[in-house]
Amino acid sequence: MHRIILDTDPGIDDALALFLALSSPDVRLEAITTVGGNVNVDLTTYNALALLELAGRTDIPVARGSNRPIVRQPMYAEHVHGDNGLGGLQLPEPQIKAIDSHAVDVIIEKIMASPGEITLVPIGPLTNIALALRREPRIAQSVREVVIMGGALRVPGNTTPSAEFNIYVDPHAAHIVLHAGWPIRLVSLDTTMQAELRREQVEMLASSESPVTVAIRQMLAYYFDVFGPQNGVSAFHMHDPLCLVAAFQPDLINWEPSFVDVELHGTLTLGETVAYFGPLITQSPNVLASVGVDAGRFIQLFLQRIKERFA
Ligand code: BDR
Ligand code: CA
Repeated sequence: MHRIILDTDPGIDDALALFLALSSPDVRLEAITTVGGNVNVDLTTYNALALLELAGRTDIPVARGSNRPIVRQPMYAEHVHGDNGLGGLQLPEPQIKAIDSHAVDVIIEKIMASPGEITLVPIGPLTNIALALRREPRIAQSVREVVIMGGALRVPGNTTPSAEFNIYVDPHAAHIVLHAGWPIRLVSLDTTMQAELRREQVEMLASSESPVTVAIRQMLAYYFDVFGPQNGVSAFHMHDPLCLVAAFQPDLINWEPSFVDVELHGTLTLGETVAYFGPLITQSPNVLASVGVDAGRFIQLFLQRIKERFA
């Protein structure tokens, strides 16, 4: 059983990662912690609560986290995820509330209470994770693994020519997290850009009218009908679901040890993840970097699990 804390900024692909976690019998979601990223933290928290309620999993605690990056001004991605973060999908107002504790406290408490047991899966900017490390550095020795969606190692960025969104939004947090000396799997655009969900594959879920599959179809309709045509993309990139899968089925991905650092001073390259591989590595590797993926198997696993649990 994989005991996971999902740190998230829903976000269309965050929502899909959440549904995948909820449909995976080998995953136990210990908590959802929210962060400002795709939209502000009020909205990401609202979305996390509403999505959980839709899936009938009101037992999972949601803790609200940081709204602002550590140094930089906030920056959102409404153009990708719609004004409400879920492609305009309107969900009933959630009856459940976020718990009183802050996300940073929940991350620390859960990891320290079960040494070696908890996998931390951040799929938004790394603000909460960096603050947790500063507040309780011993989480670095107590976590099982940290599986991060972020970075662009040998491929271009998706927010600037060199930076990926989650790292660009809070590069200072990313710097702290990458240098904490804990076990990291880094799921970057190098593999997530290959994990493409096509419209006809989403339509495989079309025969079901369950609330979750209807929500998936509506969120992706925004992407295929609005964002896609405007930006010349025809497939949906499964960034966050691929990251989640890496936490419980890492053999779907090829991994290489790498030393990865974050550019904090470049005037043009802020947030670039600079990765040293093979003979270029002069310091101990700080991550296992995703360098290849069996995208077909991954998409099948995603669709099958969603169908089995929610269709
Ligand atoms: C990442 O940025 C966000 O918009 C997505 O949710 C994902 O976490 C991809 O760069
Ligand atoms: Ca995200």
